[in-house]
Amino acid sequence: METWVALSIVAVVVVLTSAWRVLSWVWVRPKTLERRLREQGLTGNSYRLLFGDLKDSSKMTSQAWSTPINFTNDIAPRVVPFFHQNVHNYGKNSFMWVGPTPRVNIMNPEQLKDVFSNISDFRKIEGTPFAKLLATGILQYDAEKWAKHRKIINPAFHLEKLKNMLPAFRQSCSDMISKWESMFSEEGSIELDVWPYLQNLSSDMISRTAFGSSYEEGRNIFQLQRELAELVIQTTRSIYIPGWRFLPTKMNKRMKEIDKEIQASLKGIINKKERAIKQGEGKNDDFLGILVESNLKEIEEHGNNKNMGMNLKDVIEECKLFYFAGQETSSVLLVWTMVILTRHPSWQQRAREEVLEVFGQSKPDFDGLNRLKVVTMILYEVLRLYPPASFLIRNVHEETKLGKLSLPAGVQITLPIILVHP
Ligand code: HEM
Repeated sequence: METWVALSIVAVVVVLTSAWRVLSWVWVRPKTLERRLREQGLTGNSYRLLFGDLKDSSKMTSQAWSTPINFTNDIAPRVVPFFHQNVHNYGKNSFMWVGPTPRVNIMNPEQLKDVFSNISDFRKIEGTPFAKLLATGILQYDAEKWAKHRKIINPAFHLEKLKNMLPAFRQSCSDMISKWESMFSEEGSIELDVWPYLQNLSSDMISRTAFGSSYEEGRNIFQLQRELAELVIQTTRSIYIPGWRFLPTKMNKRMKEIDKEIQASLKGIINKKERAIKQGEGKNDDFLGILVESNLKEIEEHGNNKNMGMNLKDVIEECKLFYFAGQETSSVLLVWTMVILTRHPSWQQRAREEVLEVFGQSKPDFDGLNRLKVVTMILYEVLRLYPPASFLIRNVHEETKLGKLSLPAGVQITLPIILVHP
């Protein structure tokens, strides 16, 4: 009998504790955070149970993305419609609700500088398990793990290594231009949707520079990653319910299938590369080769202590990240550059003259590319007006001062590149 009483007490305590945790997560904590933010003069919608602003935000995004827009320099209402409206309604010192988490808007240049220089206080946010399928890697890491991976990856960004990648970039460009040339009509003009070609161009460049001789397999992986990205984006439109990913829905099953295929292919390519490097075969001019070589060196320098380097899973994640971080960003920059040049023929003319003056009819080389002042100015201006990464998010994990603000643990901050630039 006594055992039953004890068990019942334990059961009641467990149920009450769990109930309190849920209540705290969906109501008490968000309301406490809201009060702390409002006390400091920050404004935003009142917290709404569980979803916060997510439903409105998702609806506005679907609406904004459903119709084409006229040409404009002000793309924020299209790209981040809810966020843009929130800042319009409440001002720069505002916040919005992503489910039960408040996100504070940071637009003051001094505060932005502080966030970027204080990486231990303002940490990257952990993606949902779905987002993690796409890529983790250094973009997601903080502190020691970031430093360790960054040290191993750094050689891939050395100028000498980038110079070696130039023929691969040239090859991808000339493949695309040859396709366009073969499509010209006799009058020498053609109407062409350049966007899919530019997406393909950046994808092709990263496949070549990342995987070298395993380029075809790399392309295959990236096609799969593109499909996975589309599915993952769909999942971000609503709140993530823990455990949801285990349900056998059609979308969950497809995401798992793709993930498995990507992991298996990458494992094959990486193992092949490691064997080649250990046997002293082949040039290691591609990203994977540089990464594997640098990783083996790091392990060797620490007395063959494997913990000092990356394991196979880490290397897989960094490869996936390179594609994820570089593909869409580069093609978005290129497509906006073309759009802007069509709107400003005089700048198109200046850019063309500069390219012809520097290269004439010869192949573009590294030194020449560095001398393209007008082209560089144009690219920077396009990045300012149409930033491919429109905003960044950071987590505040303990009470942190930021200028006059005192941000409580549990809030996030948005760094809205797209609203800061103009
Ligand atoms: C126009 C093109 C690009 C833009 C606008 C862009 C933008 C950015 C931004 C804003 C970040 C910082 C993210 C954060 O701190 O949360 C970042 C990081 C990163 N990007 Fe890019 N990126 C571009 C092209 C590329 C390319 C081509 C690659 C590689 C192929 C790449 C690889 C990375 C990596 C590895 C990081 C993480 C660096 C670290 O944390 O140490 N990016 N990028």
